[in-house]
Amino acid sequence: MLRAAAALALFAALWVSGMAGDRSFAGSNLIYQQRGYGPPVAPVSHVAGIAAANPLIALGEKLFYDTRFSGTGSKACASCHSPGHGFAEPRWVSISDNGKLGRRNAPTLLDVGFLPRLMWDGRFQTLEQQVFGPFQSGEMGIPIEEAAHRANADPHYVSLFRAALGSFATPGGIAQAVAAWERTLVTPPSRVDRFLSHNEYGALSPLERDGYSVFTRRAGCANCHHVFPLAHGGRPSVRALFSDFQYHNIGIGYRTGYSDKGRFEQSRHPAEWASFRTPSLRNSARTPPYMHDGSFGTLEEVVEHYNAGGRPNPNISPLLRPLGLSQHEKAALVAFIYAMGN
Ligand code: HEC
Ligand code: HEC
Repeated sequence: MLRAAAALALFAALWVSGMAGDRSFAGSNLIYQQRGYGPPVAPVSHVAGIAAANPLIALGEKLFYDTRFSGTGSKACASCHSPGHGFAEPRWVSISDNGKLGRRNAPTLLDVGFLPRLMWDGRFQTLEQQVFGPFQSGEMGIPIEEAAHRANADPHYVSLFRAALGSFATPGGIAQAVAAWERTLVTPPSRVDRFLSHNEYGALSPLERDGYSVFTRRAGCANCHHVFPLAHGGRPSVRALFSDFQYHNIGIGYRTGYSDKGRFEQSRHPAEWASFRTPSLRNSARTPPYMHDGSFGTLEEVVEHYNAGGRPNPNISPLLRPLGLSQHEKAALVAFIYAMGN
């Protein structure tokens, strides 16, 4: 009883402090709220106070939000992975620290600890490796060695690193701390989880249940967005993630004469030309715009894209074909995707 009260108080405190600053979990995107969904809940493990209790995670969180580790002093990881936008970004593609436009949309970090491959082209396997990325690509504007140097010049960080890792700040230590914090971004069970994992038929509305049926059967979405994919170590995931973590070309970004070559840039395998990792859909309702280039603003546009059979190009996936969905089926698909994160 006492513990429950303490947890509730902690939740309320986090909620109120969250609402006050940039770390708001409540300032989600407009469309989401216009549809009558409440403010998205904070990641469960975060609310449970894990960050406060573990020095490594607390350090990672601080680093994640600190703009001092960028060239201009204005960018942090959280600038492009904003908690107010489901740890993704409302922009179509990101803007680096030097003001240059990137070419890809920033994915959500919610549930990122469950993904066996990272980035739209799968070029990193672990969160630790990934932390080096934004420092190498110019997104943060300084090399990670410089970030470690800056941390060591601040006595407060020096003591935080000592408490968390027993050493001065190093690039590897920064990566370890940020990755540990990212792994706490776990979303609470959604209505789709109750429906799929706990056999609670009534957890979904009739429209959402129709959506599940269209998703898994008639529209073939689950051919790529596997409901329970194989995750780390080849074991089936215990939580619904809606991805096969493979690479497919569905025609996004294809224009005559130009294309982001996606997975091909890593593998040089012609079959993977302009193909991208299937994203998990768990949190998509909260994180428009969609696709690697942020080219769709709503889930309705995404569904229209698939209904047309994708955008034709020399390497389009054989799994796509015109679907001829009815208005009801399209609405049901969108409703089902919204229920995944609610
Ligand atoms: C300038 C914007 C920007 C900044 C700053 C930034 N990111 Fe990202 N992040 C992106 C974009 C864009 C992608 C996708 C890039 C790609 O796939 O090629 C991404 C991808 C990721 C991914 C992979 C997610 C997935 O689903 O595979 C992780 C994890 C991540 N970023 C963490 C971080 C961390 C940690 C920091 C700070 C050290 C950071 N990001 C800073 C824009 C940014
Ligand atoms: C051939 C495999 C495949 C099939 C079938 C498929 N998808 Fe996808 N889906 C992908 C890939 C790959 C991407 C990312 C493509 C890109 O960005 O270039 C994606 C992206 C998405 C996104 C954007 C998610 C985000 O956060 O950006 C949504 C939503 C989505 N798919 C829903 C669906 C629905 C609904 C269906 C069924 C009508 C479906 N998908 C069928 C492979 C597939």
